[in-house]
Amino acid sequence: MENEYLAQLKNVTFGYNEKLICNSINLNIKRGQITAIMGPSGCGKTTILYLITGFNKANEGSVTVFGEKIEQLTRNQLFQIRHNMGMLFQSAALFLDLNVFDNIAFPLREFNLLPESMINDIVLMKLEAVGLRGAKDFATQNLSGGMKRRVALARAIACDPALLLLDEPFAGQDPVTMGVLTHLIKLINKTLQITIILVSHTIKNTFEIADYVYLISEGRIMGEGSPEELINSQDLWVQQFIQGLPDGPIHFRYPAVPIAQELNI
Ligand SMILES: Nc1ncnc2c1ncn2[C@@H]1O[C@H](COP(=O)(O)OP(=O)(O)OP(=O)(O)O)[C@@H](O)[C@H]1O
Ligand SMILES: [Mg+2]
Repeated sequence: MENEYLAQLKNVTFGYNEKLICNSINLNIKRGQITAIMGPSGCGKTTILYLITGFNKANEGSVTVFGEKIEQLTRNQLFQIRHNMGMLFQSAALFLDLNVFDNIAFPLREFNLLPESMINDIVLMKLEAVGLRGAKDFATQNLSGGMKRRVALARAIACDPALLLLDEPFAGQDPVTMGVLTHLIKLINKTLQITIILVSHTIKNTFEIADYVYLISEGRIMGEGSPEELINSQDLWVQQFIQGLPDGPIHFRYPAVPIAQELNI
């Protein structure tokens, strides 16, 4: 039987130098679903995506994607596996010296397998999906922040990946575009059967389309379940996070010594 999970983190511990970011985390990404990862800024959401793509290697535990243990793969095997992944980076990470069209054509041209006429059609279809076909000849520097992110989304889906990782796709979008993007992400998931991992701070839109949500903080999973289960959760942390309340167990400030000590007063 085919594994129902496309990706799994089992007891994963990971830190940058001394700083522990994941403390024995377990995540199950179900095939064909949209799984959201949410949590306060700096809690390690992007880090988790990088563990799944193999940019980061777990210190302990294992990360399995497409049935392969990421930490055991050679560089070449990792490149192979990444062909089935599309990633929208938090910073968009477009190639600044390429225009919009060529940014999206880049992954399609990489292996020289498709004729240019077909690449042209695919790029235009992806641009149409994100509402930017009219901007195909724009220089990347001339795009607004929100447009860059949509071009990055078009590039991430250019090769119809089996797994799509989206890091903050809604950031910098106006309300209408946000609604359209929310719908588009669900459409990509349902019609193309693409499994999606969605990192976002936008509760409303994320809860509208996610099948399962993980809430993460201080290296641990603070809550998980369907959006409905989380909305009905009695847990104080979960409620503070999803309602955006100023008071509760979640701290706004990055840990620091008392300010009087820092200012020598
Ligand atoms: N390459 C790195 N080297 C050292 N520390 C890092 C590195 N990348 C991230 N960090 C630290 O790890 C922590 C988690 O970062 P990460 O980018 O995963 O957070 P995030 O949850 O995605 O935050 P945001 O919501 O702001 O994007 C942060 O404290 C960050 O400073
Ligand atoms: Mg991040």
